Amino acid sequence: MMGRSLVSWSLRRLLAPGAIPVLVVLLTSSWMSWPKSTGTIDVAAGREIFESRCAVCHFLRADVLGHTGPNLRTIGRDAATRRPGLGGPEYLLQSILDPDAFVAPDSRPGMPRNVAAGLTAVQLKNLIGFLATRGATPDFPAIERLEVADVPPAPDQPRNVTIEQMKLAERVIRDKAGCLDCHSPHHRPEYRALAPPIFGVGLQDREQLRLSIAEPDRRIVPHYEAAVVALQSGILLSGRLLHQDDYQIVLLVVDADGKRTLRSIPVSEIDEEDGQPMIRKLDRSPMPSGYAELLSEEELSALLTLLQLLN
Ligand code: HEC
Ligand code: HEC
Repeated sequence: MMGRSLVSWSLRRLLAPGAIPVLVVLLTSSWMSWPKSTGTIDVAAGREIFESRCAVCHFLRADVLGHTGPNLRTIGRDAATRRPGLGGPEYLLQSILDPDAFVAPDSRPGMPRNVAAGLTAVQLKNLIGFLATRGATPDFPAIERLEVADVPPAPDQPRNVTIEQMKLAERVIRDKAGCLDCHSPHHRPEYRALAPPIFGVGLQDREQLRLSIAEPDRRIVPHYEAAVVALQSGILLSGRLLHQDDYQIVLLVVDADGKRTLRSIPVSEIDEEDGQPMIRKLDRSPMPSGYAELLSEEELSALLTLLQLLN
């Protein structure tokens, strides 16, 4: 009796005009369990670095669309459990400075070695501070104690770039090669349905980028392989597999006119082979493979320089 009237009294108080901000503060503070003090760590500055250097490959929210790197929405919690003997902050530091040291569960290698190129020690700690807030309450003093040095700039960053080169690169990317038909300059997940973002891949080294363009089949970004599905009706569908569970798959199909449709197909309508639905991932990239012939060395070189600068 008593308990209930107390509850309705406090609800009325909380819902009274003017009390909403209090409610919001209460809710957000308990939900995020924000720590009392961040010391010298600037989480907001860390988020900015993440947005400009990492968000191109890592999402922070759940999403069905595939992406290049693992989802980092709970990395603050997961980091401490990844490698025996390594604390959360140490693991994050190692993941950033030496990605080859360990491959995250359910991932393929492919994180560029120089994502931190040119960051100062302070910026690195801010970045780690931001990651540590994802799904956990960070131990800021432990992050402050990390021994880190300034990271030197990437050795092959282009110098002496001319306006003419950039104009040439823009013409290639827009018109001659039609890269923007598939690759969107937007970072949001819905713009990655056809192809991964390329404005932000510039941190990969130049030879790696050249290969991605000249020989796309050689190293295919995970989740972007073309898939072929055989239906019981005899029809074959091919496209990008966006989602698959026990009941249905979702395929992004592009027809000959470039029209895009999302097809959701019940697993019961798919042909079976050895008790498994017939869905084949091809080891071919949907990206056209003739760029090495189409583009002159001058055009390709200008294009690579543009991509390297846009990171
Ligand atoms: C070009 C794509 C790409 C970029 C850019 C990139 N990463 Fe990654 N990252 C990956 C891939 C792929 C993996 C999985 C393989 C591995 O663990 O090395 C990964 C793994 C990680 C992991 C380990 C995740 C886990 O669950 O254990 C962390 C942490 C991480 N990246 C942080 C960053 C940060 C911070 C940046 C920006 C400074 C960044 N990454 C930029 C592709 C990328
Ligand atoms: C028909 C659509 C299409 C066109 C046109 C296209 N691409 Fe791609 N591209 C893709 C797809 C799909 C992928 C992912 C599969 C793969 O790795 O090959 C990709 C991957 C890439 C990658 C690797 C990205 C990474 O994260 O490692 C780069 C770089 C790239 N494309 C650059 C270009 C450039 C530059 C052009 C124009 C010269 C271009 N693409 C034209 C569809 C396209």
